[in-house]
Amino acid sequence: MAQQLISKYNVPGPRYTSYPTVPYWDNNSFSSEGWKTSIQKNIAFDKKQTGISLYIHLPFCESMCTFCGCTKRITKNHSVELPYIEALLKELQLYRDILNEKPSIEQLHFGGGTPTFFSSEHLEKLLIGIFELADKAPNCEFSFEGHPNNTTKDHLKTLNRYGFTRVCYGVQDYNDTVQKAINRIQPFENVKRVTEEARETGYTSVGHDIIFGLPFQTLVHVENTIEKTILLMPDRIAFYSYAHVPWIKGNGQRGYSEANLPSPEEKRLQYETGKQKLLDAGYVEIGMDHFALKTDVLYQAQESGTLHRNFMGYTTSKTSMMIGLGVSAIGDSWFGFAQNVKGLKEYYQLLETNTLPVMRGHLLSEEDLIIRQHILNLMCMFQTSWKDASEVFPELPHVVAQLKEMAKDGLIIIHEKSISVTEKGKPYVRNICLPFDLRLQRKKPETRLFSMTV
Ligand SMILES: C[S@@+](CC[C@H](N)C(=O)[O-])C[C@H]1O[C@@H](n2cnc3c(N)ncnc32)[C@H](O)[C@@H]1O
Ligand code: SF4
Repeated sequence: MAQQLISKYNVPGPRYTSYPTVPYWDNNSFSSEGWKTSIQKNIAFDKKQTGISLYIHLPFCESMCTFCGCTKRITKNHSVELPYIEALLKELQLYRDILNEKPSIEQLHFGGGTPTFFSSEHLEKLLIGIFELADKAPNCEFSFEGHPNNTTKDHLKTLNRYGFTRVCYGVQDYNDTVQKAINRIQPFENVKRVTEEARETGYTSVGHDIIFGLPFQTLVHVENTIEKTILLMPDRIAFYSYAHVPWIKGNGQRGYSEANLPSPEEKRLQYETGKQKLLDAGYVEIGMDHFALKTDVLYQAQESGTLHRNFMGYTTSKTSMMIGLGVSAIGDSWFGFAQNVKGLKEYYQLLETNTLPVMRGHLLSEEDLIIRQHILNLMCMFQTSWKDASEVFPELPHVVAQLKEMAKDGLIIIHEKSISVTEKGKPYVRNICLPFDLRLQRKKPETRLFSMTV
């Protein structure tokens, strides 16, 4: 039965870090002016005047991990750091002008690439610049992605002084063969050191990223990786399914072929076995591919129904506006999305003329806003409902009809005016979102855009 389910539901599907998904953005109707207006609309709409989330993309890495799907620049030349920081601050100044007042930052996330590629002195310079233009909200949550091979005590201390209390380390897999295949040699001792140092410094949430389905990875490798991870008991674990997207230009997925990847059945077994080990160790599954200890705020957010999902993944954010700074960063004003240019040269050139470096985006229609909420409900709470008239849309009966097959397979339960995902259905939550994705339903992709759902 499990095998039948896998072959039936293993289809290409979005990971729904946004709705509409990036390939379905209506870039033709998007403009920089429209993006600014959507920010103003958010300010008028957000009567509670909550703060903003700020995502900063720090794209440099010293070496290329061959599995990596992130936007990054590989270089060993650290003279790239200062000009990039100056450009980021210039970009923040442009947003400060659009917002008309000093924003209050509730969430700040340094992502990458590798934020710890930058020296702690340069990160401090960036933070000093940020807090000249913005205030720190009282309940702020600041986090960064650290590479276990180059995160230093200085990084941890400096960032902590400015309010960072969360760090997430890329682990992937501890096996030598897998590490060689993905060009990422990273001993357990390095991860242990940075995990312990973060705790000693005062970080209250330490996360590890693990991946299943990597080239040459077997069930035993995944089991060993999880056993080692449990020795350190990180507060959060992202247990990602390897996304094989070699058609995305420049993402570095080479050095192995599809034949070196585990089969969909092996991959599902890796996930199921890994998940059980995490549950046995006291972790709780949060949304799709995330686990947390009950003491972590991510678990508390799921329990209280305040869990949110955006381009950073799952967050406890209560803000409805996220500004993204840096190459390829995506901003979200709730009424619109905007993505920055990906090339460094272009990014610098635009900022030199005080132009927002956005290259594409989408302004959400009334229908998009309704669908977006259903997809967020499913991805964050494993349920959605249409009890309120504002949650209904004309295609709903057709969507429910499409969901009946999944109800028959035991993946969901259809109630009178809601659906809920069963335990068995949780790994298939991306499939369950698909019928709601009206933009994708109306125009099926002609080429491969998304990774497989299993
Ligand atoms: C920006 S990296 C983390 C920070 C730092 N660069 C590092 O590698 O330690 C973000 C995370 O995305 C995940 N990731 C990257 N490419 C992926 C892919 N193709 N499939 C699944 N997860 C991926 C990895 O787990 C990685 O740790
Ligand atoms: S996994 Fe991290 S270090 Fe490796 S290439 Fe991707 S962003 Fe850079």
